[in-house]
Amino acid sequence: MEDLSPRPGDLEPIETATRDEISALQLERMRWTLGHAYENSPFYRKRFEKAGVHPSDLRDLTDLAKFPFTVKGDLRDNYPFGMYAVPMDRIARVHASSGTTGKPTVVGYTKGDLDVWASVVARSIRASGGRAGDMLHCAYGYGLFTGGLGAHYGAEKLGCTIIPVSGGMTERQVTLINDFKPRIIMVTPSYMLSILDEFRRQGLDPAASSLAVGIFGAEPWTNSVREEIERTFDMHAVDIYGLSEIIGPGVANECVETKDGLHVWEDHFYPEIIDPETGAVLPDGEYGELVFTSLTKEAQPMIRYRTRDLTRILPGTARSMRRIEKITGRSDDMIILRGVNVFPTQIEEQVLKCVGLSPHFQIELVREGRMDAMIVHVEAAAPSVGAEARKSAARELAHHIKSVIGISTGIEVGEPGSVERSLGKARRVVDNRPKE
Ligand code: DLL
Repeated sequence: MEDLSPRPGDLEPIETATRDEISALQLERMRWTLGHAYENSPFYRKRFEKAGVHPSDLRDLTDLAKFPFTVKGDLRDNYPFGMYAVPMDRIARVHASSGTTGKPTVVGYTKGDLDVWASVVARSIRASGGRAGDMLHCAYGYGLFTGGLGAHYGAEKLGCTIIPVSGGMTERQVTLINDFKPRIIMVTPSYMLSILDEFRRQGLDPAASSLAVGIFGAEPWTNSVREEIERTFDMHAVDIYGLSEIIGPGVANECVETKDGLHVWEDHFYPEIIDPETGAVLPDGEYGELVFTSLTKEAQPMIRYRTRDLTRILPGTARSMRRIEKITGRSDDMIILRGVNVFPTQIEEQVLKCVGLSPHFQIELVREGRMDAMIVHVEAAAPSVGAEARKSAARELAHHIKSVIGISTGIEVGEPGSVERSLGKARRVVDNRPKE
């Protein structure tokens, strides 16, 4: 694979700033954000007053802990446009993501917010090894989801040639990759695996494709998937993180030269890790729930937004801005099965260890008698994998899951293509337990 380390002059000055410089900028921007939220968002004014805090209580960055959290439910309660801190005629665009129940979570952007967003995505593509002049195939969904348009305008800002394919029509994705010869692809990691299958179905060698960099995010994925994609496509696979409530993709990104976790673009987003039970702020290095405060957002400032994503904060390496470790799961997609906490990514790792199985899987939760049980639906790697080999792959997978995660699972090995294919985010868990 090509060495895509940044060349002199590639980085923005803030990317090589000292910690002191970054903290000073954060404090200045945090003051502005708290004041703006208090003055212009009736939601935040009420919140702050109820908690007995005022923007002037922020003297240093750690004082942020005095301020109340914002949660997804707050956006639902103020659906659709009740959290804005600017008049509606300054809202240039609206996006939405799925809510925990019922109504979607709606977010708004001013022109200035859209510009910041494009800049952080451009920075993310550059950190991944992309450059002005590269052709970029964007297979994130376009529409209310922030993936497609977020990646699109970032790529344009960097000076790429953008191919706005959106998700779906896998056969056509492969045709376009072969005909246009993009250097970069942006897509969910699970859909990249579907694209990989399609390459093979068409009898094409993925390693011979033009792709040199893949920028994958919007869902958790493991280093095993990274290895599979890098090996089969002979390309770099880099992680991009973000969430609609904070801006969309481009909140944090890995650097291609290190691939050791995602640098948070701390000049725009201030990270904290809290204990998800008590809400207490944890020191860097400890695992907990990631919380973000926007530092420059005009339309919809977010103060201490609880992401439900579980990770830890690590010091900077390739950049001085701090990193988050690859997200292992959310505090709310965790499955508790017979007292054991299980993340879909843990199952994925075990599936990838089994020769004879494809990487596609889905977890079904069922009730057996009074106990919850888990069935992992997987696929044979090829139709030629015979009945005996499938049985032994199922036994092997059950054994790995039992010995590594500690739970007994049913394994169903189906035909290649039998597991529901993702056209965006994979639906990893299907809950068929009777509703209480
Ligand atoms: O998924 C934004 C995005 C689009 C990020 C494209 C990266 C690429 P939402 O739909 O609001 O926004 O979902 C946000 O997705 O809280 C995480 O749980 C999960 N997520 C996003 N990126 C990653 C990642 C977009 N790299 C939620 N690793 C977040 C693990 C991720 N989980």
